[in-house]
Amino acid sequence: MARQSQILVLNGPNLNMLGVRQPEIYGHATLADVEALCRTHGDAIGFDIDFRQSNHEGELVTWIQEARGTKDGIAINAAAFTHTSVAILDALSLVDIPVIEVHLSNVFARDKFRHLSYISPIAAGVICGFGPQSYILALDALRSILNKA
Ligand code: DQA
Repeated sequence: MARQSQILVLNGPNLNMLGVRQPEIYGHATLADVEALCRTHGDAIGFDIDFRQSNHEGELVTWIQEARGTKDGIAINAAAFTHTSVAILDALSLVDIPVIEVHLSNVFARDKFRHLSYISPIAAGVICGFGPQSYILALDALRSILNKA
């Protein structure tokens, strides 16, 4: 049997509140719903999904560091840390595996401060604006990158 790709799906602060958090922006799906979607799609495309969320920047940094040598790719919704965190940028820069930046909302249709991402410069690509489907598109993007590798 072909080896499954090991994929880390990381979620930053306040994403544990999906479902009740500003549903007019983020919709009604919970983070557990998003995780279930990722797992189902991951099974379909041969990805073993490690799905995590933290409100703590340092914990996200540690998980990213641990992905070096153990994971094949990362899909990350760093949430507000996207717009602030050099530490997450630096961690993603050292892992040497493809990174896809994900957002539920279309950050470019929102506040100006959300137009700046510290992650985009090292991301293979950015997917935003499709709600939970953004995660599925990110997994498909990782699959096509890994298939070409
Ligand atoms: C978000 C967009 C960010 O600007 C915001 O801080 C979030 C969620 C998104 O998924 O749309 O927390 O990353």
